[in-house]
Amino acid sequence: MRLKGKVAIVTGGTKGLGRAIATRFLDEGASVLCAARSPHDIDLLVGEMPDRVAFHPVDVTDPASVDRLVEAAVERFGGLDVFVANAGVNRDGKVERLAAADWTAMVDTNLNGVFYSTQAAARHMAANGSGRIITVSSCMSSRVAIGAAGYAATKAAVEMFTKTAAIELGRKGVQVNCLAPGVLDGGMGEELAGNKKAWDAYSPRFSLGRAGRLSEAADGALFLASDESSYINGHVLEVNGGLLWA
Ligand SMILES: NC(=O)c1ccc[n+]([C@@H]2O[C@H](COP(=O)([O-])OP(=O)(O)OC[C@H]3O[C@@H](n4cnc5c(N)ncnc54)[C@H](OP(=O)(O)O)[C@@H]3O)[C@@H](O)[C@H]2O)c1
Repeated sequence: MRLKGKVAIVTGGTKGLGRAIATRFLDEGASVLCAARSPHDIDLLVGEMPDRVAFHPVDVTDPASVDRLVEAAVERFGGLDVFVANAGVNRDGKVERLAAADWTAMVDTNLNGVFYSTQAAARHMAANGSGRIITVSSCMSSRVAIGAAGYAATKAAVEMFTKTAAIELGRKGVQVNCLAPGVLDGGMGEELAGNKKAWDAYSPRFSLGRAGRLSEAADGALFLASDESSYINGHVLEVNGGLLWA
């Protein structure tokens, strides 16, 4: 019960990696507010533990919506200890052809959304003198792949943003770290697995011979949320099984 009594928000907590992180945190005793634009089938999880998990709608591209999310966690569960800025989108496209709307969706969600989330969480946590913020980047933050310029650029930016936020907020008791997953067996990773050409390019790079499990990336988030990472700040935790990549 490494998060017993803690309150967490997980953006994108309805599906994929965010759902796995929310489930892992619940297993460890936290109360969790799962947030996204749509609830999807989150009722199934809420039904299992109505006292400790709830859904709240948020659009992370809108700072006022993110502020309301933090207020909702405080109202519903009495505080906020951990904010996982996990919501993200991916739109593939070669630079010459990538639609401006797709570029904007990635920057608005993956980068601006992380900024708004960190800012809203930090204001609350700094006032209390403690808290953990976990941003989510990707193995693509530092590896080149055709068609991934927009996504990779936002994820690289998230990592530098995290390191800077960490040194600004550390003395206020707020630690900021980043989880950088590799290719996972759910969420966006599932889409990749369904694309034969992409899968043929990626799968030989898995040094453990397989994609990661959502639960394995969620374990990384748990570590960054728990007391076990009490002296880790501004770190990018790669959970990618050792990707082989030039
Ligand atoms: N799965 C992988 O293999 C993998 C690998 C590396 C990194 N990642 C990163 O992990 C994170 C989660 O990805 P995933 O694979 O779990 O994707 P996913 O299954 O597509 O889930 C994305 C989540 O984000 C939410 N979301 C999207 N836009 C949002 C917005 N504007 N405001 C609020 N919520 C929003 C979605 O719900 P709504 O659409 O209802 O809002 C959904 O809950 C992303 O940051 C992704 O880049 C994933």
